[in-house]
Amino acid sequence: MYKQSIILIRILLLFVVAILGSVSFVNAQNEDWSAPSAADKIVNPLKGNSDATKKGKKLYKQMCAICHGDQGKGDGIAGAALDPPPGNFITKKVQAQTDGAIFWKMTTGRPPMIAYAEFLKEEQRWQLVNYIRELGKYK
Ligand code: HEC
Repeated sequence: MYKQSIILIRILLLFVVAILGSVSFVNAQNEDWSAPSAADKIVNPLKGNSDATKKGKKLYKQMCAICHGDQGKGDGIAGAALDPPPGNFITKKVQAQTDGAIFWKMTTGRPPMIAYAEFLKEEQRWQLVNYIRELGKYK
């Protein structure tokens, strides 16, 4: 009897830990997302390359617009219910970041956005950085 209640208490404790863990996970998502300062030093090898920007546009429409919206305003249909919401690329908050930081974010990801390191080649990620810059020009 004594042993059983110890086991029961342990199971209860596990639940409490799991619940607390998920709560702090949710809170972590509401914190501002900044790239580490080292990311600012990564140089965009495709800067000013309009052919790369064009390829970035194609990739963007295929893979990102569904959440980030056609114009990059963070208003894609699949992004509507997400918390935090998808980034709005035409804002100063995004455009003030370095190419390296934007590259780092799409490489690393943060839930609910996946990390694109495995799904897009480095070159493709830089093409997307170029296109995100392009979107920033049309406010
Ligand atoms: C499932 C929806 C979804 C898709 C698809 C998606 N994203 Fe995101 N993205 C998000 C969300 C949500 C955030 C905000 C994450 C956060 O703040 O923690 C985000 C944030 C970002 C940011 C950071 C913006 C900022 O405020 O600094 C970049 C850059 C980005 N996404 C690029 C991309 C690119 C490039 C693609 C396509 C290859 C893409 N995303 C596809 C949901 C998505």
